[in-house]
Amino acid sequence: MRLLRSRMLHWPQDDWQSPEYIEDGVMVIENGKIRDLGPAERLQGDGLDLAKAEHYATHLMMPGFIDPHLHFPQIDVMASYGVQLLDWLNDYTFPQEARYAEAAFSNQAAHTFVDLMLRNGTTSAFAFCSSHAVSAEALFTAAKKKQMRLVAGKVLMDQNAPAALLDTAETGISDSEALIQRWHGHDRLGYAITPRFSGTSTALQLRAAGDLSERYPDVWVQSHLSENLAEIDWIRGLHPHYRDYLATYEDNGLLGARSLMGHCIHMSESEIERFSEAGAVAVFCPSSNLFLGSGLMPYQALRSAGVHIGFASDVGGGTSICMLRTLADAYKICQLQQYSLDPFEAFHAITRGNASVTHLDGFVGSFRIGAEADFVRLDASQIPLVSRRAAAVRSLRDELFIYMTLGDERLVAETTVFGEVAYRNEVGL
Ligand code: GUN
Ligand code: ZN
Repeated sequence: MRLLRSRMLHWPQDDWQSPEYIEDGVMVIENGKIRDLGPAERLQGDGLDLAKAEHYATHLMMPGFIDPHLHFPQIDVMASYGVQLLDWLNDYTFPQEARYAEAAFSNQAAHTFVDLMLRNGTTSAFAFCSSHAVSAEALFTAAKKKQMRLVAGKVLMDQNAPAALLDTAETGISDSEALIQRWHGHDRLGYAITPRFSGTSTALQLRAAGDLSERYPDVWVQSHLSENLAEIDWIRGLHPHYRDYLATYEDNGLLGARSLMGHCIHMSESEIERFSEAGAVAVFCPSSNLFLGSGLMPYQALRSAGVHIGFASDVGGGTSICMLRTLADAYKICQLQQYSLDPFEAFHAITRGNASVTHLDGFVGSFRIGAEADFVRLDASQIPLVSRRAAAVRSLRDELFIYMTLGDERLVAETTVFGEVAYRNEVGL
């Protein structure tokens, strides 16, 4: 049993306007799960010996961050200069991803990637691997070692990429199915069928991926959609028999409530309406969208249309794996569209919100009793400027805004996964 006493913030319901904040809270963890949570006074009254608690009076505990879209083989692609999406893929990304054909390289990189997420407070993620099954094996193995709740998939790509990256409609599906059987639902791991995007998949492969998804309805689907104007034009030419970009997924059985589509910046009204109707998830990748010059996701318009939205780093199009940095960029993109993202809305998004839209909310994303004990402990004193600014604010909202605007991974004093400390960095201890 582990006892923690600190300030605690989470969203018991999937509504950013109803946070639960406990100024002096206690969490009781047993067998990786939250057995009890509440004000210290109440738990003490119930007979709990608070002298045994790890006590961090000024820190802030929150559910571990969830990153619903990033690329495992792109840690060495981050900060690649001078191009937009299609050239960025060809010039930088594909050559890097080719290195993941080698098991030894993939294994070593998987440990680095998992450690990088944990030191940034990310405890769950939806990750794209390379097209090589060994890259998915490597990532699942590394995540299992840390007991992470992680969903991943090998990318399917059977055209428009170097030969070293191409699978076929057949091998792509047989490799994916073998990975589903080996990993989906084992420990805390899950599988996502991962057609990279309609630029690198033939209609035959998209159809095969849709058929696979129909046979495994509790497996996720992840891909990219309407990120860049040149991409959209190119895809129109590649798939002329489809009504639009969305239809290349929709008509092939790849658009449903478990489908996570990265970007969704330039959708037409009809696409937005059909996307919303399908209950699919548009994944907002603000850092990547700015870095690659892709455009401003119409966050408010999509929300008003009833689209489910996740917030993600999109490493390596994104320039930071840190979900706090992701929120800083999300705020700025919204500002450019006359919307000021509320700090409660922002932190809800990277915890409970991302859990809800991905259907992981039965397991993670909040501190409800019985949930898996994944959390971050943030300590403002680890960054002098944040500490100074946070000391001067009068509300929790303002404190959160400082964390998401001026904070970064240095704020993360501890990341706990399934009740166990997975990362700790206490400056000054
Ligand atoms: N579209 C297809 N592949 C990718 C990728 O790896 N990153 C981004 N940002 N967009 C893509
Ligand atoms: Zn992506």
